[in-house]
Amino acid sequence: MSDASPQLTLSRLDEAATFLRSRTAIVPALGIVAGSGLGALAGLVLGRDPAAVRIPYAEIPHALAPTVIGHAGELVIGHLAGLPVAILSGRVHGYEGHGLDEVVFNVRLVARLGAKRFLVTNAAGGVDPWLLPGALCRIVDHLNLTGKNPLVGPNVAALGPRFPDMSRAYDPELGLVLERAAATAGVPLFAGIYAGLSGPSYETPAEIRMLRVLGANLVGMSTVHEVIALSHMGVKVAGLSCVTNHAAGVSSQALDHSEVASTANEAGPRLLALVEGFCALLAEAPGQGESR
Ligand code: HPA
Repeated sequence: MSDASPQLTLSRLDEAATFLRSRTAIVPALGIVAGSGLGALAGLVLGRDPAAVRIPYAEIPHALAPTVIGHAGELVIGHLAGLPVAILSGRVHGYEGHGLDEVVFNVRLVARLGAKRFLVTNAAGGVDPWLLPGALCRIVDHLNLTGKNPLVGPNVAALGPRFPDMSRAYDPELGLVLERAAATAGVPLFAGIYAGLSGPSYETPAEIRMLRVLGANLVGMSTVHEVIALSHMGVKVAGLSCVTNHAAGVSSQALDHSEVASTANEAGPRLLALVEGFCALLAEAPGQGESR
């Protein structure tokens, strides 16, 4: 539940957007949430685009910095493969104890800056045994099993409607662009349904068996609230998971965050190639996926 009134939510977003506009004139066409494994993306853009700017979340009015190791907490705005992008390097998770208003603040901010499309990435456990650690998987839909929704509370009508449609929350057209980028880069790409749970404990084997019955292929502790907030704003979303481990009980191995992080890092170069190819395709056809 949001503790802020609609006016307060909007004025916080607008204050932060005004601050960002004072730092760069670049208007992002695509927002990217760089989860585990995409830590190098921001550096790549900063290294290649002399006009790119790096803004720690701590400097952005009302934005929170993540507390999880491996999540940097900075916004980089610049060009990737010719496309103006805003990269949220690191995210705040609900399990850190923040309100969902705060969890979705940064994605709302980037959408407010002008991004009409988003690529949301994450590390996930593979619910299906055939999803091996290191596999990349396009998210085609999600199950929000966190018991929470960032839109609970008075609707912020300036952002979107009271009852937003979620039937195309992961835009099929943008999904095809991801598929094309994967084929061009020679990166194998699977497709699956992501179950978002609150964490921070990993699931039990019984919970994973339940998720399989529910139709989930992937499991994680992020993404669903961001995607709900972006859908609310009419933003088109592509989702990408890096499978970092077999989910609990799929193999006999115990889960360990450091292994999750190291598998995500190993997949980094493939993720980068895919994301860069995705941006190149969008830059070639800027209107792609813009109509609703
Ligand atoms: N479960 C939940 N979240 C995760 C996992 C998992 O197995 N792997 C990476 N994030």
